[in-house]
Amino acid sequence: MSEQDKYKQIFEANNSWIEKNKVDNPGLFKLLAADQNPDFLYIGCSDSRVHPNQVMGLKPGEVFIHRNIANMVISTDLSALSVINYGVEYLKVKYIIVCGHYGCGGIHAAMEKSDYGILNPWLRSIRDVYHMYRKELNAIEDTEARHRRLVELNTYEQCRNIIKMGEIQKSYYETGFPKVAGWIFDIEDARLHDLNFDLEYELNKIKDIYDITGNAE
Ligand code: CO
Repeated sequence: MSEQDKYKQIFEANNSWIEKNKVDNPGLFKLLAADQNPDFLYIGCSDSRVHPNQVMGLKPGEVFIHRNIANMVISTDLSALSVINYGVEYLKVKYIIVCGHYGCGGIHAAMEKSDYGILNPWLRSIRDVYHMYRKELNAIEDTEARHRRLVELNTYEQCRNIIKMGEIQKSYYETGFPKVAGWIFDIEDARLHDLNFDLEYELNKIKDIYDITGNAE
């Protein structure tokens, strides 16, 4: 199939999807047009093989989404921070999920000693995670196993970055939400693995430096 045909097919698929939903989920589009009220905020990798709605079995309207290379939450990234802020303060999501995945190109790139041009500062934040855990990582001889461990550690660190945010701390102390979760999607078998991020424990561990609400005793 030519690129042009592939492009055209998107509109045909869109039509069929609309017709199918009219039967399977009557009233869905009307409901969605009125408002969104998702319980979940998903922060994942831009990788085309990891599609949040499909992976989680959620319908349109059920998950608010932010994606970037290697599912990063960087303290100066206005885009990610705005999505999190909007999700927590306005949509009042109950869960924020950071989802990393094995086979992540961003993590692979950060493990190479290569110049990636404009990507360098982005990859730097992943290399910073490697640096934090270099002792553990360097002890893993198998490259693939080391990659997988960095995917996990990086995802966990992004969960930690989320709870360093004032609006997260404020909302959590006031309402008990949002909860924060770190997941890994295994690209080989499409299974999700929970890293069991313990928000309460992690918040207690960092609050002497990162608390900005004055609520932590
Ligand atoms: Co990726």
